Amino acid sequence: MDKVITIAGGGSGYTPGIVLTLLKNQSDFSISEIRLYDIDNVRNSDMEVIIRHLLKKEKSNIRLVATIDPQEAFESVDFIFSQIRVGGIEMREFDEKIPLKYGIVGQETCGVGGFSYGLRSMKGFLEMVGYIQKYAPDAWILNYTNPETIISEAVRRKFPEIKIVNACDQTIAIEELIAHSFGYDRRNWITNYYGLNHFGWYQSIYDISKKKDIMPEIIEKIITQGFKTDHLDLSWAKAFKLMERMVTDFPEHVPNNYLEYYLYPNLIVENADPKYTRANEIMDGRLKKIKETANLIRSASSLEDVDYDSDSHGQYIVDIAVSILNNLNRRFMLIVPNKGAIPNLREDAVVEIPCYVNSNGVEPISLRKEIPDFHKGLMEAQVASEKLLVDAFFENSYQKALQAFTLNQSVPNAVVAKKVLDELMEKNVDYWVELT
Ligand code: G6P
Ligand code: MN
Repeated sequence: MDKVITIAGGGSGYTPGIVLTLLKNQSDFSISEIRLYDIDNVRNSDMEVIIRHLLKKEKSNIRLVATIDPQEAFESVDFIFSQIRVGGIEMREFDEKIPLKYGIVGQETCGVGGFSYGLRSMKGFLEMVGYIQKYAPDAWILNYTNPETIISEAVRRKFPEIKIVNACDQTIAIEELIAHSFGYDRRNWITNYYGLNHFGWYQSIYDISKKKDIMPEIIEKIITQGFKTDHLDLSWAKAFKLMERMVTDFPEHVPNNYLEYYLYPNLIVENADPKYTRANEIMDGRLKKIKETANLIRSASSLEDVDYDSDSHGQYIVDIAVSILNNLNRRFMLIVPNKGAIPNLREDAVVEIPCYVNSNGVEPISLRKEIPDFHKGLMEAQVASEKLLVDAFFENSYQKALQAFTLNQSVPNAVVAKKVLDELMEKNVDYWVELT
């Protein structure tokens, strides 16, 4: 039977890529209807115009619905792809700029910016899961709403039985960059990776054509040749430049680039423009493009070319859905409860590790090997601080939030933690639960 899909956070700039990827994959994943759900009607309507245009151009007869009503969005759907951003880009800007005022990292998912976003995101996301449970209890939620470890932890506490797959495309981005930079074909790879979301390391990168682990030679190439970042925007190129430094300083493993926010916070802050952050770049880039494209289509309905393409982000999500639907047992890096997969890390941590995906859901793969103390120590502090944040949310506890902020490894001391928490709390008064 043809499936019905809801894209939650329909107004996002990632939606066209996902829809175009869905269209490309119709033989494995046949769809009768796509619903765009967003609480921002203007952005959802702009996206509806673009998606309708793309469907027409591709001669697809998939039905398209755009709605701000949860019942209409979720009733009897089969899959929900969630990319909601609670508070939108406007609140991301505060997450990035307020910490910088105190000389600490301001980032959407790392450091206290990630915590601020986490407190907003848990509230909005859990509310949405409540609707999904009511209107589509058998649906699969494929989630890439950030910050993912915090969201996963909150969801499993409140909805332990919900059918959810938590996925992040960053490991794909890193692998694609390595392949692009040094001429590998990543379809030959079996990769092992462990960590928390946006906080992990490769353990090995086995190449089936060479019959060996090529991580050591990749590390050597990163150090001596550097990445080829010509195809990336400036911010991402910079992020991967710093990743080269990280590999040079700690050359035993390929790290996730996001670790630089914890290992080199001073360099990040020195290079940041406190008046113009990533949020501003997105406003002036991705979001402006949506507006302009929608308006162009509205005014010239014969418009042929729209500058959107199927992309690896969309492909990743669609591949997971296809693996569930067709019981393919394909392997993905996913965010799951540890339960012994990383043997020397607390059982109740939410970790990112390779998993098989089939019609039964997610089957995590055990690492079978202890992780080094350096990684374990970093992860333990991070897990504890994230758990404290989730506690703060469920218990309405200011004290727990302050502990979470103080323990965050991008925060130098409790004085700064309190100041930045208080200012973020004030700015997020419409979005956070009350903390007392
Ligand atoms: C990667 C991460 C996502 C993150 C995104 C931010 O894809 O895995 O979790 O949301 O980058 O990209 P942006 O272009 O919005 O800064
Ligand atoms: Mn991510």
